Amino acid sequence: MKNISISQRALNTPASAVRKLVPLADAAKKRGIKVYHVNIGQPDLPTPKKIISKIKNFKAETLEYAPSPGLLETRMAWQKFYKDKGINFEVEDLFVTNGGSEALIFAFAAIADPGDEIIVFDPFYTSYAIIAAMNNIVLKPVLTKAADGFHLPVQSVIENAISRRTKGIVICNPNNPTGTLYTDNEVETLINISIKHNLYIISDETYQEIVFDGKRVLPFASFPKIRNQLIITDSVSKRFNSCGARIGSFVSRNKDLMRAVLRFAQSRLCVATVEQLAVIPLLNDYKSYTEKIRDVYAKRRNTVMTELKKIPGISFIPPEGAFYIMPKLPILDSDDFATFLLTKFSDHGETVMVAPASGFYATAGLGKDEIRIAYVLEEKKLRRAMDLLGLAIKKYNK
Ligand SMILES: Cc1ncc(COP(=O)(O)O)c(C=O)c1O
Repeated sequence: MKNISISQRALNTPASAVRKLVPLADAAKKRGIKVYHVNIGQPDLPTPKKIISKIKNFKAETLEYAPSPGLLETRMAWQKFYKDKGINFEVEDLFVTNGGSEALIFAFAAIADPGDEIIVFDPFYTSYAIIAAMNNIVLKPVLTKAADGFHLPVQSVIENAISRRTKGIVICNPNNPTGTLYTDNEVETLINISIKHNLYIISDETYQEIVFDGKRVLPFASFPKIRNQLIITDSVSKRFNSCGARIGSFVSRNKDLMRAVLRFAQSRLCVATVEQLAVIPLLNDYKSYTEKIRDVYAKRRNTVMTELKKIPGISFIPPEGAFYIMPKLPILDSDDFATFLLTKFSDHGETVMVAPASGFYATAGLGKDEIRIAYVLEEKKLRRAMDLLGLAIKKYNK
């Protein structure tokens, strides 16, 4: 009899760099150790009252399915959200998704067949690797370096990564994990490449309002010449502190693509009805909220940078947006170090959990001396977390 088996694709799919050490953190907590979580972009700020009260006051007697593309009123709220940013979409251009994650899954699967390639900028958001592996899509990494502030290389270097099988480029601006804000020039370079080589751009806009020092992102959608090639994947998770609501959006003006993605959306029937309704007030009036949290993260960024500077042997690029920083540590193996933090180290019953950076690179061997820190805790906790990091490095290197 044939053995029951698991697909090669499933076996090849990597674990999330952000979550793979969770069992070790749980075990540390069972031993009574307090763990400061800077491994994951789970902000500690309260979800806006308007969202919570909509959930609490949901009145319908039956929790019905919503339409596969999303509730009309939620799609209209996303439309208003983009209109307030100066970008006009038709309601038909917008689908509601289960977080930005599902929008990314739809985007990858809709543009690339097994064996096709999507260009990423190393280091990149770890889930892109998972989604690519789930679909047998090959990620083609183009390296960005700390020495260049993790900014993009020149056009010809990016073009060198393009092959017959390249279907698109995925980019998150500002970037997770580096906090880099790509310049107008870089955005325009990617637009030129996508037109010259007929590629999709998947613009992951999860952190677009969290940009510091009076700077801003130049939206891809403000360039009509890539209208059929642009896909926006978006999310309320971070900008409204509503990670558990699981509301995102898939946006494209390409009608054929939207027809194909609708079939994907039909496979999961719909997105949760209550949460779709709950986020509408924030989508309709996002700025007053996002401006507040942007200032909170700017302060936290400054605190983390001040504390990191006190640790001998650490260097980092000051983040310009999102809420991550990717320091280089005086260690050789950040996977081993992150494990050490959860298994062998504690100070007064406390430790810190970080994300080892190797999982943010598609190029094997990179990120071994880097970690990603998410500054999603209040400043006092961040100070203690960085203090623990410094103490742990000293002990680890002994
Ligand atoms: C860059 C980036 N894109 C997409 C997501 C997906 O977020 P969600 O599925 O919660 O919307 C995240 C979450 O951390 C992210 O950091």
